[in-house]
Amino acid sequence: MRKLSCKFSYSKSDYYFDANFSLLPKLVDKKNAVLITDENVLMNHSTRFNGWKLIVLKSGEEHKTQETVDRLMNELIEFGADRQTTLIGVGGGVITDITGYAASIYMRGINFGFVPTSLLGMVDAAIGGKNGVDVGVYKNMVGTIRQPSFLLYDYRFLESLADSEWINGFAEIIKHACILDIAMFRMLEKTGFDKIRRSKKLVGDLVEKNVRIKTRIVQKDEFEKGDRRLLNFGHTLGHALENVYRLPHGQAISLGMTAACELSHLIFSFNDSQRVIDVLDNFGLPTDAEFDKPRIIDILKKDKKKEKQEINYVLLEKIGKGRVQKIPIRQLEKFINQL
Ligand code: GLY
Repeated sequence: MRKLSCKFSYSKSDYYFDANFSLLPKLVDKKNAVLITDENVLMNHSTRFNGWKLIVLKSGEEHKTQETVDRLMNELIEFGADRQTTLIGVGGGVITDITGYAASIYMRGINFGFVPTSLLGMVDAAIGGKNGVDVGVYKNMVGTIRQPSFLLYDYRFLESLADSEWINGFAEIIKHACILDIAMFRMLEKTGFDKIRRSKKLVGDLVEKNVRIKTRIVQKDEFEKGDRRLLNFGHTLGHALENVYRLPHGQAISLGMTAACELSHLIFSFNDSQRVIDVLDNFGLPTDAEFDKPRIIDILKKDKKKEKQEINYVLLEKIGKGRVQKIPIRQLEKFINQL
């Protein structure tokens, strides 16, 4: 087990890598903790929850709504949760998002920690403090930015992960490589999906590397005024596609990254789109799809990243060097119509 303590603007988070779930009672007082998980994680790991106060939510992005949070609030009241209570989200991105958001508003804010169980949760969703819910087709439209006090990484949770979930997680790893880390991109290119996935060592190293990449960016710009925007590479178009077509997150942002590469070619003469497409392809991600353009453009016009008539779009100058570029909505509309 390795512990890493990271300072943010108002708080600190402790990361426990390569740890065991049995560490949890040493991090929190069991009597004052409530675990939140979903039906899927419970089914695969039921014995781990023995002896804990537990709230089980339905699995899936469609339940990441204010309605679920309202029900959760009532259950917390029934449990007698108070300001001394710690909420612990044990699950993928939906669970950590709901838990972090609920903990930030329950009694105006209580302590929380995460045990991410999916690759996507481990390398992305559980890190950074942005937690919230969707409103209809608008993803993460309501939420808070507040850091968990700890993250416990027990890689054994990955053993029950479905193929589609591995692919989702790798999409965010490829994103980090594209915007910030050419060496990691080359490693993904060279080693490939099957070899990495089969090796506990490679997966563990990759998780830790990606946690550090994301954490560094968030520490520099927790409230997303600058560099943190880079993490939205592939996410502007991706989020719109994700909720309209109910696509898995990884597939949606893969399509978003492919489109962003093409736009990078037009704006920055980026010439490596094919290398990015080949890596996405090798990791089982889609790079081409038909979609209802007017509907998607309409959603982009309401995106959180829009400022007046421009949108902050993340492009690549080269592999490993992302750049945020303001693009007039009209230009974006024209580009999307030509896809
Ligand atoms: N919770 C995800 C993020 O803060 O980016």
